[in-house]
Amino acid sequence: MQSQKIVVLGTGGTIAGTGADGSDHTGYRAAQIGVAELLAGVPALASWRSQLELEQLAQIDSKDMDEATWARLARRVAELLARDEVQGIVITHGTDTLEETAFFLHAVLAPTKPVVLTCAMRPATALGADGPQNLADAVSVAAAPQVSGVLAVVAGAVHGPLDVQKVHPYRLHAFSSGDAGVLAFVEEGRLRQLRPWPVGQPRLHLLEYLSRPWPKVAIVMSHAVAQPWVVEALVQHGARGLVVAATGNGTVHQDLQPALLRAEQRGVKLLRASRCTLGQMVLPASAQAQAEPALPHVQLSPVKARIALALDLMQEA
Ligand code: SIN
Repeated sequence: MQSQKIVVLGTGGTIAGTGADGSDHTGYRAAQIGVAELLAGVPALASWRSQLELEQLAQIDSKDMDEATWARLARRVAELLARDEVQGIVITHGTDTLEETAFFLHAVLAPTKPVVLTCAMRPATALGADGPQNLADAVSVAAAPQVSGVLAVVAGAVHGPLDVQKVHPYRLHAFSSGDAGVLAFVEEGRLRQLRPWPVGQPRLHLLEYLSRPWPKVAIVMSHAVAQPWVVEALVQHGARGLVVAATGNGTVHQDLQPALLRAEQRGVKLLRASRCTLGQMVLPASAQAQAEPALPHVQLSPVKARIALALDLMQEA
């Protein structure tokens, strides 16, 4: 097993952030420390050094995640996974869009080896920094036998790519998998698995499309006083797809629905996703509601539905 490698790809985030002093949890700058320095700050990983390969793929605040970085990341992860000696990959990432990157990698690569994203809510310079423990946990998950798929390891929990969401802006336990629940816990470096690892259908042919401009797909939120001009403006700007962040069980404001149907008639692909945080299911409509034209829906959060729709549209001319 010693010849098996875990590759750690750094992409930035608060885990690589630095603040003015140890109590600075909000005014710090994300994405300052390189992945080698990050690893050097985790004594628990000292015995792993010969098995770890470190690579700085990006150095960004994940709120600024873009298509070009995602394209590079997906390609690099695919290349690394193809190497026999690579047992798994750890990606250090910002918390803000971690769930989107996790879903994106799952949707394109659906890997059978572990690809483990991790992060931190406090910068590396914080007195009680959470990054070192998260990183140590992520490495132990990536190295554990029989683990597979894209996972997020945060605060001792292992989440799957479909369900994980950041649900708190400040607390160390900022991530939730809602109703679905976590896949596993990491306790003293050991995994306690509760649910199966994620499986998916790899769509590796999409790798060739990722560097081209992505189809424009936006999110329209249905909310009190929602108005049709938002949809009209997006269509005018060339939106090819719209995800409706729908209220409750997938319902859409009566003033938004006609504009959406007009957009659909002009060839814009629509998808509904519930904006509720703890459960993304949209249950079948009652007979009365079925009389209204139903927009297609998906059991994903709106930000993940946006990625799913963009990937679906990518192959269409
Ligand atoms: C980021 O998402 O890159 C900054 C915030 C964080 O990592 O907590």
